[in-house]
Amino acid sequence: MPKITVHRKAHFNAAHRLFNPNWSDEKNFEVFGKCSNPNYHGHNYELIVSLTGEIDKETGYVYDLGKLKDLIKIKVEDVLDHKNLNVEVEEFKNINPTAENISVVIYNKLRVSIPEHLDLEVTLYETPRNYVTYRGA
Ligand code: NI
Repeated sequence: MPKITVHRKAHFNAAHRLFNPNWSDEKNFEVFGKCSNPNYHGHNYELIVSLTGEIDKETGYVYDLGKLKDLIKIKVEDVLDHKNLNVEVEEFKNINPTAENISVVIYNKLRVSIPEHLDLEVTLYETPRNYVTYRGA
């Protein structure tokens, strides 16, 4: 059977600050620039969730995209949308909410609810030009 990848796009807005608490304000500014602004700043994150697997013989689907939409809403949007990631999201209390780390958190939240025979990939755009992909490690 051919392997196919299906994708679902989603969106959330969130605020963050990139900094290392062990460094001085000067060093943080040197490394993270404007992203270390102590008063936070926002991004319009674009998310693409991709599932790869064989087409189910009975449904013709790889995975029901309506189900994926609901899953993304409950596991990702309800948790991250309109949040201050550093302050309000448990996972980022001790790690920097970079696009890299956010994509790992999203992957882990979704992975547990997606059938094991499907490969999961998360693509996260922090800006229209800057994006990361994660497919588990
Ligand atoms: Ni930023």
